[in-house]
Amino acid sequence: MTPTLTDGVVTLRPWRAEDVDAVVGICQDPEIVRFTRIPVPYTRDDALMFLAQQVAREQRGDVASFAIADAAGEAVLGSIDVRPTAEGRATIGYLVAAPARGRGVASRAVRLLSRWALEELGLARLEIHVRPDNPASQRVAERAGFRREGVLRSYLESRGERHDAMIFSLLPEDVGSAS
Ligand SMILES: CC(C)(COP(=O)(O)OP(=O)(O)OC[C@H]1O[C@@H](n2cnc3c(N)ncnc32)[C@H](O)[C@@H]1OP(=O)(O)O)[C@@H](O)C(=O)NCCC(=O)NCCS
Repeated sequence: MTPTLTDGVVTLRPWRAEDVDAVVGICQDPEIVRFTRIPVPYTRDDALMFLAQQVAREQRGDVASFAIADAAGEAVLGSIDVRPTAEGRATIGYLVAAPARGRGVASRAVRLLSRWALEELGLARLEIHVRPDNPASQRVAERAGFRREGVLRSYLESRGERHDAMIFSLLPEDVGSAS
């Protein structure tokens, strides 16, 4: 079951049906279109489908997609998930609403989710894949304590174009080294 995690400033909580309007609003942003694979244009039906998928994932026992919310767990500021891949590895992905950027929301969310995923899911390695032309996201990974390992060439596909990926990782033994 998806837990609620908080550091007193940012709260990660399960998605709710009433988040639909917030999701539609957040996903109109050109930076999110540029750096993620959301549908364009992003409609209310897309948001309804996204929320239904999260409920279905939860029911299947798949871990774990969270709304990033304010301290009270109410206003939706963004989205974050952890996707197990293979052999004890998982990938973290995230986005933050344009008006909420630049005050540490993504860094806090990644720190909260990564510590929980290593401790509670027993994962051996978390990864974040970031395009070289996305310095804000690279900074988020570093601020959350992830180490930059290198560049995977032509690793990502988005809207018909291929992109290199900078790979960042966090291992259980790294926890505590976050700035
Ligand atoms: C990347 C994203 C999640 C960051 O969210 P955020 O809440 O603003 O992140 P934080 O405030 O925790 O940290 C952002 C850091 O990037 C820095 N930053 C922002 N824009 C930058 C830029 N153009 N160049 C360099 N650094 C930049 C900020 O200064 C901050 O670092 P600092 O705290 O050391 O000053 C947000 O911009 C976003 O949703 N972008 C579109 C979707 C996306 O790229 N998702 C990630 C895909 S891998």
